[in-house]
Amino acid sequence: MSFSHNPKIYVIIPAAGSGSRMGKNSNKLFMEVAGIPVIERTLKTFMDYGNTHCIVVTNEENINAMKELQETKYPCIKKVVLGGNSRTESVNNGVQALSSLECPPDANDYVLIHDGARCMLTANVINNCCEGLKNNDVCVAGVPTKNTIKIVKNGIVESTPDRSTLYEVQTPQCFKYDVLKKSYDNATANGIEATDDTALAEILGYKVAIVEGSYSNIKITTPEDIDFAQGMLERT
Ligand code: CTP
Ligand code: MG
Repeated sequence: MSFSHNPKIYVIIPAAGSGSRMGKNSNKLFMEVAGIPVIERTLKTFMDYGNTHCIVVTNEENINAMKELQETKYPCIKKVVLGGNSRTESVNNGVQALSSLECPPDANDYVLIHDGARCMLTANVINNCCEGLKNNDVCVAGVPTKNTIKIVKNGIVESTPDRSTLYEVQTPQCFKYDVLKKSYDNATANGIEATDDTALAEILGYKVAIVEGSYSNIKITTPEDIDFAQGMLERT
C-alpha cells in the first residue's frame, strides 16, 4: 500500500532591507498601500492562503514591530530572525532558522522565499508555485518580458537576445527543503551572492522550472510603485 502526505509549506520573507531606493527615512515595508502597510499585505496573503509556516527576516530597527505583528495579528509567523547586509545573507539566516522551528521541515517539504516588498502577490501565484514543486526540485514565478532587452557594454549594444526566450523572474522562489539547504550552504561556503535565490541552485546543476507569475506581482522599490500598486487595487 502506498500513501502520500501533503508537503508542508514554509515561507521565508526577507524584510531586512533599508529601502534606500525609496528615498525615505522610514522603512518602505511600513508604508501603506491603500491603508494597509506593505509588509502586512504580504503577511495577510500567506495567512489567508492557510497552513503556511512563515519566518520573517528583519533588522534591529524593526524587530519589535515584527514581533508585535506576530503576537497580535499573524500567527502564521513562527519565527522572527535578524537579517544581514545583503539579501542573500538575510535569506540564509532564514534558511538556517528553519531547522530550529518547533515544527521543522522534512527534506521534501516546500519552502517559498518571498520578498516582503512584493505585497501584490495572489493565492493564484502561490498555487502555481506549489504545483511547480510537485514535479520539480526548484521553481520560480516569472513572466515573459514585455520589453526588448539589449546586452550593452560601455554604452554600445553588443547583441539583442530573442525576446521570446526572456523571462522576468519574481518571487516566490521555491525549493524542496533539502535542495534549498544545499544551495545556501554552498553559497555561504563559497561567498556567492545572488539577487535571485534559484540561481544558487542552478550553480549546483539543478533544473529550475518557471511557473506563471503575474505582471501585478511588483516589488515596491521606488515611490511610484506605491501609486502603481494602489492603481491596480482600484481596478479590481
Ligand atoms: N532585503 C533583506 N535584507 C537585505 C536587503 C534586502 O531582507 N540586506 C529584503 C528587502 O527588505 C526586500 C527584499 O529583500 O523585501 C527585496 O530587496 P529590495 O527591494 O532591494 O529592498 P531594499 O534592499 O530594502 O531596497 P534598496 O535596494 O532600495 O535599498
Ligand atoms: Mg536592495
